[in-house]
Amino acid sequence: MHPDLTKIIFSEEELRDCVKRMGAQITADYADAHDLLVIGILKGAAIFMTDLVRSIDLPLEMDFMVISSYGDAATTSGRVKIVQDLSCDIKGRDVIIAEDILDTGRTLSKLLKVLELRDPRSISIAALLRKEGAQQFEVPCKYEGFACPDEFVVGYGLDYAQHYRNLPYIGALDRKVYAG
Ligand code: IMP
Ligand code: MG
Repeated sequence: MHPDLTKIIFSEEELRDCVKRMGAQITADYADAHDLLVIGILKGAAIFMTDLVRSIDLPLEMDFMVISSYGDAATTSGRVKIVQDLSCDIKGRDVIIAEDILDTGRTLSKLLKVLELRDPRSISIAALLRKEGAQQFEVPCKYEGFACPDEFVVGYGLDYAQHYRNLPYIGALDRKVYAG
């Protein structure tokens, strides 16, 4: 285990099984999809999204958005900004947003409002993690991987100040790392 972590919360095997399950469910639900598009929210969802699409046994396109909400802090800044938009049109398409973690829900509730104005056929959210008891904004999350304790977690795409994304598991970051 990385020395900056206090514990591993989801192992590599648990993540692999979880993402496979999510992909199988999406495959079943979207068999009749129109022009399926999976949107990865960079950078946090990059690893989850690329594993997820390989577990979806349907024709699909991938696109990405860069959204900033945290900056380099361990608590949300309260602002949500589209730093880089999609490169394609979503009108009339079935869209799935792949996100790493649903925390307060601010990012996804804002993003949903923006994307719904572009008239997709449908839009749903696949979040790998949902922090228990942390949601302050109503977000319909159709696919949820794991409920996660309300701690700051890193790994498998999730970062603290851009570090730890490449850990193959998800663990709790030691408070000493971000409190000092
Ligand atoms: P929300 O807008 O409060 O739901 O925050 C969502 C975003 O904050 C996620 O997409 C993550 O990028 C980031 N985030 C929230 N909690 C954590 C965490 O525990 N570790 C790393 N990033 C987090
Ligand atoms: Mg994110």
